Amino acid sequence: MVADDKPASTFKYSEKPVYTASNGCPVENPEAFQRVGNNGPLLLQDFHLIDLLAHFDRERIPERVVHAKGAGAYGEFEVTHDVTDISSIDMLGKVGKKTPLVARFSTVGGEKGSPDSARDPRGFSLKFYTDEGNWDWVYNNTPIFFLRDPTKFPLFIHTQKRNPQTNLKDATMFWDYLSTHQEAVHQVMHLFSDRGTPYSYRHMNGYSGHTHKWTKPDGTFVYVQVHLKTDQGSKTFDNDEAGKMASENPDWHTQDLFDSISKGDNPSWTVYVQTLTPEQAEKFRWNIFDLTKVWPQKDVPLRPFGKMTLNKNVENYFAEIEQVAFSPSHLVPGVEPSADPVLQSRLFSYPDTHRHRLGVNYQQIPVNAPLRAFNPYQRDGAMAVNGNYGANPNYPSSYRHMTYKQVKPTNDHEKWTGAAVLFLSEVTSEDYVQAKGLWDVLGQQQGQQDNFVGNVSGHLSAAKEDTRKRTYEMFSRVDKELGARIAEATEKLAPAPTSQAAGNAQARL
Ligand code: NDP
Ligand code: HEM
Repeated sequence: MVADDKPASTFKYSEKPVYTASNGCPVENPEAFQRVGNNGPLLLQDFHLIDLLAHFDRERIPERVVHAKGAGAYGEFEVTHDVTDISSIDMLGKVGKKTPLVARFSTVGGEKGSPDSARDPRGFSLKFYTDEGNWDWVYNNTPIFFLRDPTKFPLFIHTQKRNPQTNLKDATMFWDYLSTHQEAVHQVMHLFSDRGTPYSYRHMNGYSGHTHKWTKPDGTFVYVQVHLKTDQGSKTFDNDEAGKMASENPDWHTQDLFDSISKGDNPSWTVYVQTLTPEQAEKFRWNIFDLTKVWPQKDVPLRPFGKMTLNKNVENYFAEIEQVAFSPSHLVPGVEPSADPVLQSRLFSYPDTHRHRLGVNYQQIPVNAPLRAFNPYQRDGAMAVNGNYGANPNYPSSYRHMTYKQVKPTNDHEKWTGAAVLFLSEVTSEDYVQAKGLWDVLGQQQGQQDNFVGNVSGHLSAAKEDTRKRTYEMFSRVDKELGARIAEATEKLAPAPTSQAAGNAQARL
């Protein structure tokens, strides 16, 4: 609180608050400092100057280890179709029910200052402030991912970032990993289609990718995958346009989102669910815990159930977007993770990084705080700013009664048994089938196969020769003609062997 008893952030621009030091002491001139005479050294007693410098020295917090560059806004989710036959989730309980949310979109591999139009998957994160706690959807704009063995995630991400010696993006590292871990090929097909360079955050879809479970109190459940389809229409840059935008306006996606909401042109998405019963899942052609596979829509149709709209910009980017902390483990009654090992690993990784990036009390930061929470056994720690549960006992006390709500269904349909094993998945011919499906989808759209070949060859040509060759073989396993076309286009662009080292340093766009 400041002099006239208002929280510091609530002053309107029309008001004239008294400027103070951080302890509330009025300061005559924010630019003046204390020294001996007009030319002498500074005084340690000048709390205003020292506090200002010390705070400035600590302005940066760690950027997200992935998805560092992003933009976000507030909005709402509205239930448009009844799904109570398959869900007991409070947020989805009634047609017309609205739930407030915050969204953050992002690129994955680049640093916080990297260009928005880079070829990359996009993060698509939503935090719903439901009556039964915060429910986070930490999705991407692609329905699949590069891997299904979680241990590979840090190793794979290293290949997307910078070479440890040169500190440069490195095409050989990038394709060396992908061509030796070919379960990634389906996602590579998405990444190097023009959907790898969306026109804006408003013009892309979001997908859960993972399978989750929607449970009912009687112990039954369905497996689900969620899709958010843009109502603005899917729109992309081609490779040249994306490259041009990267230099002309590296923050284009950030600006586009802010400007469109500012002028009331609120973007929205129609939200669908695909469902499989446990019995259907057992007979399904695809392993529903394999993140490199979609559920073909002709086999498992999309069922609409909601609309997500963004309608309010944030007041303060750092407070509300940089500090927002999404996690696949922030769930609510009625939804559970599936056994997908990548999802299971993510349940751990996000709160772990939040404790590092934002501190142990990250859930108390206003943008992360649920509508209501009562958890007095979590006490103290750095930045305990919510009153720290006052005099409430910090153990299950006979003198403090709480209500316990039954939320866990019995899940009779899912029982796991087996020996502990050391597991690593194998790549088989099945891994190329859906990649070929996408190649065929691109073939139905004017110029999209040509763009794909151009997008790959422009990038792959900077890799070393043996890595290039291994990559041609990978694409040939998707489709013989595709492999041949990429080989031909890439070799035309590949530098002569002597200048290979320089070529390796080429940026990723
Ligand atoms: P369908 O023909 O039923 O669906 C094809 C889907 O492809 C469309 O619904 C659309 O998804 C998506 N799509 C259209 N154009 C492009 C593009 N240029 N780049 C990327 N995706 C595009 O067939 P299937 O469900 O059998 O899927 C065929 C292939 O489509 C899959 O192998 C997969 O790679 C891809 N796909 C599948 C999705 C799924 O959940 N089944 C979702 C997205 C892509 P949308 O309407 O969501 O844009
Ligand atoms: C961000 C880990 C896979 C979507 C992050 C962050 C970490 C991480 C540590 C930074 C979070 C933060 O600082 O707040 C992992 C691990 C994965 C994995 C260990 C696999 C084992 C995925 C997958 C998806 C995904 C498969 C999508 C389906 C996202 C998104 C963000 C993110 C959208 C940005 C969240 C935000 O906007 O703040 N991930 N990730 N990740 N991840 Fe993952």
